[in-house]
Amino acid sequence: MTGITGRVALVTGAARGIGQADAVKLAEEGAVIAALDLYEESCATTVGLIREKGAQAKAYACDVTSSRQVEEVVAQIAQDLGPITLLVNNAGITRDNLIFRMTDEEWFSVINTHLTGSFNCTRAVQRYMVQEKWGKIVFTSSTSALGNRGQVNYAAAKAGLEGMTRTLAIELGPFNINVNAVAPGFVDTEMTRATAYRLHKDPEQWKQERANQIPLRRVGTPRDIANVVAFLCSEEASFVNGQVIYISGAPGRA
Ligand code: NAI
Repeated sequence: MTGITGRVALVTGAARGIGQADAVKLAEEGAVIAALDLYEESCATTVGLIREKGAQAKAYACDVTSSRQVEEVVAQIAQDLGPITLLVNNAGITRDNLIFRMTDEEWFSVINTHLTGSFNCTRAVQRYMVQEKWGKIVFTSSTSALGNRGQVNYAAAKAGLEGMTRTLAIELGPFNINVNAVAPGFVDTEMTRATAYRLHKDPEQWKQERANQIPLRRVGTPRDIANVVAFLCSEEASFVNGQVIYISGAPGRA
């Protein structure tokens, strides 16, 4: 893939799971990685994996729900590594519950992490992309945006991100900035393992049950998502704008 080499990429939620895979894949394509997560130490593995490949990465601590922290860390990254022209909004949490049991904390923490967090990061980073007249932004939606029992908070946040994707594709397109989203289905990460435990299921058995419902008869890997993220960050995707790409082994929700 072309166009990524030498670009500074900010990946949020990069300590593990899909964010880690996004960071490693973009580094393989030549990007310099700012790996951001709640704690700097938690990004050590990601940074190590990237440096092993001879690529450059640095860890940053930030809670994406805080606009002040995001503004500060983005300024720091730009000072350390240069103008940020790739942004992968990936940080996320789940706090599942049926609506009659859902607390304010469960509602707001999920909305704030996905929706406000992605907004904070995008607002802070777009100014570098506008200056450079080049940028790629990828949001991380989910098949849950199409509706999922027990996830009214998460589904609303992810559907909101899809609206944000289309709107910013219109606003930022004239500055040669592409804005797209990936919408993964079931991907084997800590997040889905935690869901299995919450449902009192063995994670491996839960994974197999989900795989049986997917036409391709397997669940996704973080790398499956990272491959599409890297494509959306590349020049090969330079006429793709405002799209949400479902990556679920199925036409939409399996
Ligand atoms: P994960 O739980 O393994 O990793 C999420 C990362 O985000 C963690 O390192 C966590 O510390 C970080 N994070 C959470 N809140 C943060 C905050 N306020 N500030 C900074 N970092 C924060 O999750 P996974 O599975 O890798 O998910 C990544 C993204 O993909 C999320 O947005 C998730 O909603 C989305 N997704 C995941 C799917 C799956 O099946 N695993 C399916 C569809 C979407």
